[in-house]
Amino acid sequence: MPQRKKVALIGAGNIGGELASLVARRQLGDVILVDIPDKEGVAKGKALDIAQACALDGFDAKLKGTSNYADIKGADVCIVTAGVPRKPGMSRDDLLSINLKIIRSVAKGIKENAPGAFVIVISNPLDAMVYEMQKVTGFKRNKVVGMAGALDAARFQHFIADELNVSTKEVNALVLGGHGDSMVPTLSYCTVNGVPVRQLISQEKLDAIVARTKAGGGELVALMGTSAYVAPAAGAIAMAASFLLDQKRLIACAAPTDGSYGLEGIYIGQPAIIGAGGVEKIIEVELSADEKALLKKSAEAVRGLLADAEKL
Ligand code: APR
Repeated sequence: MPQRKKVALIGAGNIGGELASLVARRQLGDVILVDIPDKEGVAKGKALDIAQACALDGFDAKLKGTSNYADIKGADVCIVTAGVPRKPGMSRDDLLSINLKIIRSVAKGIKENAPGAFVIVISNPLDAMVYEMQKVTGFKRNKVVGMAGALDAARFQHFIADELNVSTKEVNALVLGGHGDSMVPTLSYCTVNGVPVRQLISQEKLDAIVARTKAGGGELVALMGTSAYVAPAAGAIAMAASFLLDQKRLIACAAPTDGSYGLEGIYIGQPAIIGAGGVEKIIEVELSADEKALLKKSAEAVRGLLADAEKL
């Protein structure tokens, strides 16, 4: 008899709650929502609230809220949102010192209790947090990834679809690089069902869309006073589902660079095939000279972040 998978969500805040609901509703597995002892009630409450929706919406999942890492034992997937989100005016990098300490303790809990898990990190600044997670757990590099490209591409797709008044489902987009101001939306790979977007939208408008995509997270922070949580959760769920169901989807994510794109030893947004083996393959796409230069610059920004993290 196939057993239900187990998905551990570390952090039961805005994104964690959304993730719990999606895992349950999509029947990806049973859910363990973990938070700090002070917030254990919130974790338990969110688990109970979603579990009570099972009867109305007709899905089967067990959900548990806890502050005890022992409860994540045997998890197939761990999705990490532990940390503090951005407040207005804060950059993702401002979060570095606070969230680094948190990630180190979370990584220890995952290492001790869920050594076989596929780990998806969402906490910001993403590229440094996912690097630290891999370093502290010592897990295989292809079993630890960061969620960014899926979200950044989804924002890009939304803006293109909105501009053209077409279904978002028809729009393909690829965003590479670090999950910050240096991200690289690649217009050459943006199509509407195969039609290059440059044939459909003027360069001036595309430039504005690229700029808005890059600032997409900040736009939401300014509107809501905290960072986005619906689309970020959806991005991580797409990655978790691709792993759990061996879908082998091609999704841009913060993945390890072992020579890909001429980069070594960091995590940065690249197109990756995610299947039952974790990141099964990095796809190196051809880039224009401009895109290459932007990616190099983005990698420098990530290295700068890692150097700062090293000192903390
Ligand atoms: N272990 C588990 N949970 C923790 C820990 C820890 N050591 N430290 C903090 N948390 C919890 C907080 O108590 C809080 O409930 O992480 C949760 C974060 O939730 P929110 O504050 O609602 O933040 P959210 O919007 O979910 O974003 C989380 O993702 O996109 C990034 O920038 C964002 O870094 C932020 C993260």
